Amino acid sequence: KVSKSPQARTILATGGAGYIGSHVVVELLEAGHRVVILDNFENSDRRTVARIPQIARGTVVLVEGDVRDRAVVTEVLRQYRIDAVIHLAGKKAVGQSVADPLLYFRDNLLGAISLLQGMQAAGVGKLVFSSSATVYGIPKVLPIPETAPTGTTNPYGRTKLMIEEMVDDLVTADPRFQAISLRYFNPVGAHPSGLIGENPRDVPNNLFPYVAQTAIGQRPEVQVFGADYDTPDGTGVRDYIHVMDLARGHVAAIERMFGPGFEDRHMRINLGTGTGYSVLQIIDAFSQACGFPVPYRVTARRPGDVAVSLADPCRAGAVLGWRATRDLARMCADHWTFQQQAALDSRPYLVARSDLG
Ligand code: WQD
Repeated sequence: KVSKSPQARTILATGGAGYIGSHVVVELLEAGHRVVILDNFENSDRRTVARIPQIARGTVVLVEGDVRDRAVVTEVLRQYRIDAVIHLAGKKAVGQSVADPLLYFRDNLLGAISLLQGMQAAGVGKLVFSSSATVYGIPKVLPIPETAPTGTTNPYGRTKLMIEEMVDDLVTADPRFQAISLRYFNPVGAHPSGLIGENPRDVPNNLFPYVAQTAIGQRPEVQVFGADYDTPDGTGVRDYIHVMDLARGHVAAIERMFGPGFEDRHMRINLGTGTGYSVLQIIDAFSQACGFPVPYRVTARRPGDVAVSLADPCRAGAVLGWRATRDLARMCADHWTFQQQAALDSRPYLVARSDLG
């Protein structure tokens, strides 16, 4: 029996102009859904939204606004008759959260509270929340299943865990609510067109963008934060996942919630590959992709880093029928394609209003 394509839904993507968000929007459109983006462009670029119609056909509306503004959220939910929300808007720099915890508690927690209150007011009960493997803290078991104990090591991670727990209480209090919290491991790569991707404005905290900016000549060399961990080559091992696989996982989560027999009120699901790579393996894979050796130097460990983080992705397979399909070579190739495009983008260019769809 040919499974009929899932019914088209109208999805609100908060933070939909961001790195993860824009790829989620593309995959939602590809799956035939309509998308409303709510973004304040604090950490994203209008040009990203303007390029989405060049990548995927379909209805995407941009609302420039702040998820912390409950009135705006309620109005958008009602006006566009939103069926479900994917909440991606939030601050995500671990180091910044350590330096300025109250900024993170204000923005991430108030943003989630105002969104959830808006959803209650508008009668929208389905939520996919962008959570993070950082909620596991120092892993007690590897690979990490969703049932592993949580324990955060920084304010950013605490905001993710606190929002998950807020959602627990909300689904208990309000029978209309249902949620899936997706715990991301290490998203990397870009849409193969090179039109959208991760291009941090300031010095990248994460490994992949730093390696890519070194490869393009924007940074002199990669600093390898420690080579004395208890891992095969001494450098940190992580579960890198292609952002297109991650984005597809969001579509699978939305469609599963509308599907039959989804009884869970709030389910946590890892989005990872289950395969780990070390820092040196990443540098080597990226060197293969760009065609020359990316320079690096081993320096001191970064405080707070763990030796290994690795997802047990079984629940995503069992519940969502989803698994990551793109390998490390593809992650590096797509990230490199985008990085080269981004370097060309240094020149400003006009975005015609019609581009915004
Ligand atoms: C990966 C590996 C570093 C940079 C973080 C957040 C997590 C999530 C993903 C938001 C580690 C090493 C890094 C560099 C290096 N973000 N490294 N030189 O730390 O696993 O996770 O990003 O949700 O919450 O904690 O990712 O890319 O920073 O580091 O050697 O310049 O690369 O030590 O082993 P991480 P990362």
